[in-house]
Parts: sequence; structure tokens; C-alpha cells
Amino acid sequence: MPLDRINFQGLRNLGEVSLRPSRHINLIFGDNGSGKTSLLEGLHILGLARSFRTRHLKNAIGHDKQAMTLFGRLEGDPPIPIGVERRRDSDSISMRMAGDRVERIAQLAEALPLQLINSDTFRLVEGSPAARREFLDWGVFHVKHDFFDVWQRARRALKHRNALLRHDRIDPSTLKPWNAELARWADRIDAMRSDYMTQFVPIFETTLTELLGIPDLSLRYYRGWDRNREISDILAASANTDRQMGFTQQGPQRADLRLRVGKHPAVEVLSRGQQKLVVSALKLAQGLLLEQTSNRTCLYLIDDLAAELDDKHCRGFCHLLEQLNCQTFLTGINQRALNHDWQAETQVERFHVKHGQLSAG
Ligand SMILES: Nc1ncnc2c1ncn2[C@@H]1O[C@H](COP(=O)(O)OP(=O)(O)O)[C@@H](O)[C@H]1O
Ligand SMILES: [Mg+2]
Repeated sequence: MPLDRINFQGLRNLGEVSLRPSRHINLIFGDNGSGKTSLLEGLHILGLARSFRTRHLKNAIGHDKQAMTLFGRLEGDPPIPIGVERRRDSDSISMRMAGDRVERIAQLAEALPLQLINSDTFRLVEGSPAARREFLDWGVFHVKHDFFDVWQRARRALKHRNALLRHDRIDPSTLKPWNAELARWADRIDAMRSDYMTQFVPIFETTLTELLGIPDLSLRYYRGWDRNREISDILAASANTDRQMGFTQQGPQRADLRLRVGKHPAVEVLSRGQQKLVVSALKLAQGLLLEQTSNRTCLYLIDDLAAELDDKHCRGFCHLLEQLNCQTFLTGINQRALNHDWQAETQVERFHVKHGQLSAG
């Protein structure tokens, strides 16, 4: 569901922001330092209660402000108001949705599925498996309703098992119940992830072909443990080596997505530009799959696309965005930076940011 109202106060250098965005494409223009990324950051905090720029939300409060209050309204009948507030004098964040207090961030995340594309996301190919796992789990979380619960149970079992492994002396029998618990949830997580990937891969391939052809590129899911063995057997057999390492070496916490070109890891073969297009295709394909499987749309936050992709691929990317029914906020230095020929029926709103003040046009 798109946001039909946005109201921010006390966010970084931005003055009061009051917007009625388009339900499809929103273009945000402004000079360096005007506040474009801050606006995307505000939307990110609204959907996930965390920033992509800082680990400490307090840093996002305007220097001379006591609090940051972010409000958005999801279109619907009735519309759903959501709000996030972070005060300087308190260590906690308060979240509300439809008039009620929100206790779990997952509730916000579920209401506002959100995809960020900026220069950090473009590291998805070359970065650590953790980033790709987070990417994969975003998709699984939004299409499989019990995933969050299952994943939390696995994490709890893993934490207990790892804590025991770090003791100097352990009686192997104490590991047994945690092995069983971890194995049980690991299999469930694997089934959900693997199911998701079966749906995801063909959509990703079609999307990538529209952006750029890379023959021989393959995307495979690695579940985190040996393909030919049961996780329960692995956990039982690896107690000693796991103890030497001090942690559980195989399991769903080690899952990854493997991108290859022929036999080589994609990161060794693709140019930076090609890697960006692969990441773009990954991100767009997740939005498409969400739309197809659950009839929900996600919110795309895209920071400075023109700085990342050349003209031709920028246009190809915008063309795909146009086909997706998702609400999108795209930033750029000036109108020229995003001069895609939007089709007449596409709803496009333009906003200009100058010294922290937003105006339409
Ligand atoms: N907590 C803060 N309070 C006030 N201003 C801030 C804060 N943090 C950063 N800024 C300023 O906000 C401005 C906007 O930054 P940013 O949103 O990154 O601009 P843009 O993306 O348009 O280049 C910068 O000039 C920065 O110095
Ligand atoms: Mg910026």
C-alpha cells in the first residue's frame, strides 16, 4: 500500500516536511547537502525503525531539535496512520500504527515493505554473505507468514548451543537438546528459503535480461550446510570441531546466495557497472514477486541512481520501475539527472529540496 501523506518534523536538516506523494513515482531534486538522502532516511525509519546511515537514531534528530517525529499514512479504507518518534532525552523509540502502540518492529516492517537502493546496496554482490542473507530473508519474511517466528526460534537455539560450545568443559549430552531444536527449525527455514528461491530465480532472470544480458550468469541458493547430509547428523558429528572454533559452523546462519558466471564467482568476473545492474535486477525482482504472490507492493527508496548507473541503464531501470506498481522515491541532483521519458499515464510527482525545505515542482 502506498503512502498518501507524509509529515516529518525534527529530521536532520529538514524543516517541517508535509507531502502528498504520488502513489507511483516521486522524484526528489536538490543540490548536494540539501536534504534528499535525509528524506529517504526518514521513510526508512518509518518502515523499519532504523536508519541506513547511522546505528544511533539519535544522530538523525536535527541538531537544534529535541525530537524527531515521523508520520505517514498508508492509503486504504480506512487509511492506516503510522508514526515513529525518537526523543533526545529518552533511549527508546516509540512506534504507533492505526492508533495503537507497536511493540515489535516486525509489525511495522510488515505494513510497509521497503527496498533501499543506494551505493551500499550495490555491494550486495561483493559483500559478505550476511548482506545476501538479509536480502533473501526480506523476501521470505514478506511472503511466508510464519518465517519470523521460525527464524527467532532457530536463533534462540543457536545462541544456546554457541554459549555451551564456549564453556571449557562440556558434557556432550547438554548439547543434544539444542542440536535437536536447531535442526528442527533449520529444516523449516531451509524449506521456506528454498521455496522462495524457486519462485524468485525465474523472475530475477527475466528482469536481468531486460536490463542487461549476461550469458552464463546463475543464481543459486546455498542452505548453509552440506547438500548431502542431514543437519541433525552434522550437528551431532561436529561438536568437537565446533567447540574448537567456539561457534556452530554449519546451519541456516551460514546460508548464502551464490552468483556465478560460468564456473567463476560473479564478483571476480563482472565489472562494477555490471554488478550494479545485477543488484538492480535482484531488488526489482523482489518487488515483482511480492506483487505477484501477495498482491502487495513495496516502497522503493532509490538514492542518486544517476550517480550509479549510466544513462542507458538508468532509463532501462526507470522503465522497469514504471512497470512495477510500487511507490518509489528517487533522488537526483537535478531534473536532467532523471530525465526518463515517463509515460503519460504514469503518475509522477516532482519535489525540490533547497536548504532543507521541500516544495512541489
Ligand atoms: N543531525 C543533523 N541535524 C542537522 N543537520 C544535519 C544533521 N545531520 C546531517 N545534517 C546536514 O544535513 C544536510 C543534508 O544532508 P543529506 O540529506 O545527505 O543531503 P543530500 O542527500 O541532499 O546531499 C547536510 O548538509 C548535513 O550537514
Ligand atoms: Mg544524498
